[in-house]
Amino acid sequence: TSLSPADPIPSAAADVAIVIDVLRATSVATTALQSGAKQILACREIDAARALAASLGPQTLLCGERGCRPIEGFDCGNSPAEYTADRVADRTLILTTTNGTRAIQSASSARTMVLASFLNLSAVVQHVHRFESLHVVCAGTDGQVTGEDVLLAGAIIDGVLLHRTDATDSDAPSPLCDASRIARQFWCGSLPNPDPDTLRKCLENTLGGRNLIRVGYADDLSRCAAIDSGPIIPYRTQLEPATFQVM
Ligand code: MLT
Repeated sequence: TSLSPADPIPSAAADVAIVIDVLRATSVATTALQSGAKQILACREIDAARALAASLGPQTLLCGERGCRPIEGFDCGNSPAEYTADRVADRTLILTTTNGTRAIQSASSARTMVLASFLNLSAVVQHVHRFESLHVVCAGTDGQVTGEDVLLAGAIIDGVLLHRTDATDSDAPSPLCDASRIARQFWCGSLPNPDPDTLRKCLENTLGGRNLIRVGYADDLSRCAAIDSGPIIPYRTQLEPATFQVM
């Protein structure tokens, strides 16, 4: 697990990279696909996103934020509330965000990449537990560790371990790196009985949560805390048609 962008990402060696930006890029990507978006193209820079939209034509939507706020001239900001079926169904979305799309790009050498949020938590665990080696990448906030991403990392790691019988032998060496163990302890200690309301309260006390409350997006905390509201996983492999691409 990489708890923040400062941690090295050995994704090339892992079978799957699981990228997390709970507030809000990976929650937005999950919501958009649940609402019928065709594909998400993750772009790091605003100018590159604009150029891509110009080359792909009018069926694309420009989406994202800087400093949590919508970008001038873009079609959608970075609130899950904006990604309704009437807006995004059958559209290709070009998404650029401050930290989320940066984390996606940093993991792009992984053979398989999935985007995780609390909205698709169980589906992600079901999908990734079969892989031999996993690397969880937390986007963080402006280079810092942020609690909401570490919580989800812990939830995924805990879920994967429940599927692995070899990991329940307490005498066996732990298959987890220290960062994964820290994340798992944080999750298990913070939400022994996970439910969306308790999770929303936890998100209020994280760096990403406080930033969103400050700029008027407090309602997005409940939207991003809706555990298992949909089974859709944004994924990219080098073999299959993907539901998102790194540009
Ligand atoms: C990011 O990528 O930094 C976040 O998605 C920030 C936000 O949601 O505004």
